[in-house]
Amino acid sequence: MKVTLIGAGNVGYHLGQRLFNKKIKIQQVYSRKHSNAADLAKIVKASPTNDLSTIDASADIYIIAVKDDAIVEVAAKLAKNKRLTKKIIVHTSGSVSSKVLAEYFSNYGVFYPLQTFTKGQHVYFKNIPICVDAKKEKSQKRLLKLGKEISKDVRLITDKERAVLHVAAVVVNNFTNHLFHIGATICKEEGLDFDILKPLIQETAEKLSRKPPYDMQTGPARRGDQQTIKKHTEYLKKFPKYQSLYTLLSESISNTYS
Ligand SMILES: NC(=O)c1ccc[n+]([C@@H]2O[C@H](COP(=O)([O-])OP(=O)(O)OC[C@H]3O[C@@H](n4cnc5c(N)ncnc54)[C@H](OP(=O)(O)O)[C@@H]3O)[C@@H](O)[C@H]2O)c1
Repeated sequence: MKVTLIGAGNVGYHLGQRLFNKKIKIQQVYSRKHSNAADLAKIVKASPTNDLSTIDASADIYIIAVKDDAIVEVAAKLAKNKRLTKKIIVHTSGSVSSKVLAEYFSNYGVFYPLQTFTKGQHVYFKNIPICVDAKKEKSQKRLLKLGKEISKDVRLITDKERAVLHVAAVVVNNFTNHLFHIGATICKEEGLDFDILKPLIQETAEKLSRKPPYDMQTGPARRGDQQTIKKHTEYLKKFPKYQSLYTLLSESISNTYS
C-alpha cells in the first residue's frame, strides 16, 4: 500500500512517521509551505511538494491532513487531476463529514486518529484509536488494514458517531487542558509551583481505568460544602473570568449528584 500525505502539520508529521516506520511507502508529502513538506519528506523518504497540481496518481491512498476549513479547497484542487478521482481519498478530521469529499471523489472516506498531536511531541501511536469510514466497502477494508498496521485499536465509525465523539473529545481534552492552564496561571500569579499539582492530575486520569468518572468525582461541589465554595468564589474575585467558570462547573457537578 502506498500513501501520499496532503498536509505536514501536527497530524501529517506523526502519521507520516508512523506509516514510514511500519514500512508503508510514502510517495509524496504536500504542505503549503515547501520547507514543511521538505522537512517531513526527508524523514519519510518521500518527494516534497507545495503545489497540489504536482500530486500524482502513484499512491493507493491519499490522506488529507490539512486544517478543517481547507479540506474542501484542497480536495477541489486535487480533483483537477482526473486520475486521482477514483483513488481512495480520506481526511483526518474529527468534525468534518466525509461527504464533503463526495463532490470530488467517488472513493472517499475518513482516517481519524483520535488523539491530540503536536509536532515534536512524542505519542505512543500503537494505542491511538483510528476511526475509519469509507463510502465503499472495499475501501473500508483497505483503510482498516492500513489502520491495523499502525495501531492496535482501529474501528469503523460513521460520520454521525465521529461528530459526537469529537464533541466528547473536545470536552475531555481541550477543556481539561484549559482548566490546567487556569490552575497554572493562578499558581504563577501567587508565586506557587504548579508542579505540586501534577501527581493529582495524573491520578485523576489514571483512576479512569478503574471506575467511570461519575463514581470518581470528589471536591466541595460533590460534597455540597457550601462554605468552601463560597471561600473559593470570594478568592476568585481577582480572576473574574475564572470565577464564573468555577461557579458554572460547581453547579454542573451539584446538579449531577442532586
Ligand atoms: N492536531 C490534532 O491533535 C488533531 C488530531 C486529530 C485530527 N486532527 C485533524 O487533522 C487535520 C490536520 O490538523 P493539524 O493539527 O495537523 O493541522 P496543522 O498542524 O495546522 O497542519 C495543517 C496542514 O495544512 C496545511 N494548510 C493549512 N491551511 C491550508 C490551506 N488553506 N490550503 C492548503 N493547505 C493548508 C498546512 O500547511 P503549512 O503549515 O505548510 O502552511 C499544514 O501542512 C485537521 O482536519 C484536524 O482536525 C488534528
